[in-house]
Amino acid sequence: MKVIFVGAGPGDPDLLTVKAQRLLRQCRICVYAGSLVSPEVVGLVPKDAELHDSASMTLEQIEAVFVSGQQRNTDVIRLHTGDPAIYGAIREQMNVLDRLGIAYTVVPGVSSFQAAAAALKTELTAPEIAQTIILSRTSGRTPMPAKQELAELARTESTLCLFLSVHKLATVVDELIPHYGADCPIGVVFRASWPDEVIVQGTLADIAPKVAEAGITKTAMIIVGPAIGSDRARDIPVSKLYHRHFSHGYRNAEDKDGVGS
Ligand SMILES: C[S@@+](CC[C@H](N)C(=O)[O-])C[C@H]1O[C@@H](n2cnc3c(N)ncnc32)[C@H](O)[C@@H]1O
Repeated sequence: MKVIFVGAGPGDPDLLTVKAQRLLRQCRICVYAGSLVSPEVVGLVPKDAELHDSASMTLEQIEAVFVSGQQRNTDVIRLHTGDPAIYGAIREQMNVLDRLGIAYTVVPGVSSFQAAAAALKTELTAPEIAQTIILSRTSGRTPMPAKQELAELARTESTLCLFLSVHKLATVVDELIPHYGADCPIGVVFRASWPDEVIVQGTLADIAPKVAEAGITKTAMIIVGPAIGSDRARDIPVSKLYHRHFSHGYRNAEDKDGVGS
């Protein structure tokens, strides 16, 4: 018997991994994060399987399900939204499993920042502009370590993907404008890949009223940085990877005046 932490992806069941789909279809006991995992994904679990919504459970109650699976020698699927490694609160569950001597594995999932980038039809990196992507959040009941405050991260001018922060968008904007400028592109995606997905795009100057008008207060990804602007896409430097003068390990440049490898 083991516990399998499974990434449920951002919502669309087609974005589950093949492995996650197979495990869910075979599942007998499932603990799922009901506040974020889509009903279509939970719907893959057989009708006669045991389902527990962790939204209303304590760690002790989740532990009791693990123990119950152990007593019946039946694997437990622990279904987490997106990728379990990102704000998934899996460490405390693994600590419990270590104490109980129950084995566990992890199946990664498509994270919401990836689904949001897809919804925005953007590349998160751009040569000369942003070669770093930062996954972060604003402080809530979980305080931010001082060196990771938004203003500190903004100094890098990387592409920022902010989880759990759309309700503090006004603060995000205020902290980012001094570093990114008021005209920096930003996208907010509510429930990326769900049927009711909403995409709001703008600049740091105008995004807050647009998001307020759309009524988005939770379950949204904020992506910000100069690399992502669709309006300005033609001005953003592009990679030389496919340039005919560019040599690399798998292709020689068409002439000797190549742009280098
Ligand atoms: C507790 S975190 C879990 C993140 C998850 N592990 C992941 O990899 O996407 C929850 C936050 O993820 C983001 N999120 C989760 N699903 C989302 C979706 N489908 N669209 C947009 N944001 C989403 C929101 O910022 C939400 O507040």
